[in-house]
Amino acid sequence: MQDGLEGKVALVTGASRGIGQAIAARLVAAGMKVALVARTRSELDAHAARLGPGAFAHAADLREAAACVGAVDATLAHFGHLDLLVNNAGATKRGPFADLADADFFDGFALKFHAAVRLTRAAWPALRARGGAIVNIIGAGGKTPAPDFTVGGPVNSALMNFTKAMAQLGIREGVRVNAINPGSIETQRLTGRLEAAARAANVSLDEARRRNLADLGVARFGAPAEIAEVVAFLAGARASYMQGALVDVDGGVTRGLF
Ligand SMILES: NC(=O)c1ccc[n+]([C@@H]2O[C@H](COP(=O)([O-])OP(=O)(O)OC[C@H]3O[C@@H](n4cnc5c(N)ncnc54)[C@H](OP(=O)(O)O)[C@@H]3O)[C@@H](O)[C@H]2O)c1
Repeated sequence: MQDGLEGKVALVTGASRGIGQAIAARLVAAGMKVALVARTRSELDAHAARLGPGAFAHAADLREAAACVGAVDATLAHFGHLDLLVNNAGATKRGPFADLADADFFDGFALKFHAAVRLTRAAWPALRARGGAIVNIIGAGGKTPAPDFTVGGPVNSALMNFTKAMAQLGIREGVRVNAINPGSIETQRLTGRLEAAARAANVSLDEARRRNLADLGVARFGAPAEIAEVVAFLAGARASYMQGALVDVDGGVTRGLF
């Protein structure tokens, strides 16, 4: 069975790099038209050019309220309708709690939580009109707190709660709302962390990778395409009975039931 996404329109945030880039590519491969949103125009344009005429680049800093409305408006103006919103952009600061200032918490919430809320609000009427869907890319740290992830963990927990709440509204209004919790996925963000860990411990990058995997207790890191595959599934017809699901795609790092 195909994804059933041909000719439909998606808006993917954080689509210039990493997981969002892979999601945009997977959705275009499924026959969707995709609006790519991130701040860096050059990276967005380069990815849109690789994806071809089904992709449209819109540069915006989604920490700004007006930019969220603007991204939805631009997508509707360009493609005429909207079937899928993928809230993926996120950049919460990690590190010892004592090193994190209020500004780090506000900034983390501004992008990953408030932008997702604002984009959902702006996109909801268009999604409702089309029987559309939302997929939120959240993170395993929202279920398993850690002292070096005190911004990202609470942001992710909040977004899971919001996902469940909007899924209830979606039952009545015909919008499916689900989420994916990635574990450690090989993107620039992860590579940067591993390089810093290697420098701090004066070991090779391979050794830092090995130690990080041992700490996590998983066999390997994930690939962005493995998250994108689940987005295509959740967005498509095969997942038509999935509503409010929080799907762990994390190599098994989440040990508990919830
Ligand atoms: N990688 C992992 O291991 C992992 C694990 C769990 C959850 N996640 C979640 O998955 C999502 C994607 O992670 P990733 O590793 O792919 O991140 P990434 O490689 O750092 O990419 C982040 C994307 O978001 C965009 N972005 C950053 N700040 C933005 C802003 N203010 N406004 C609009 N766009 C912005 C970036 O482009 P610009 O910088 O040009 O704006 C880029 O396209 C995040 O929400 C992250 O928390 C990742």
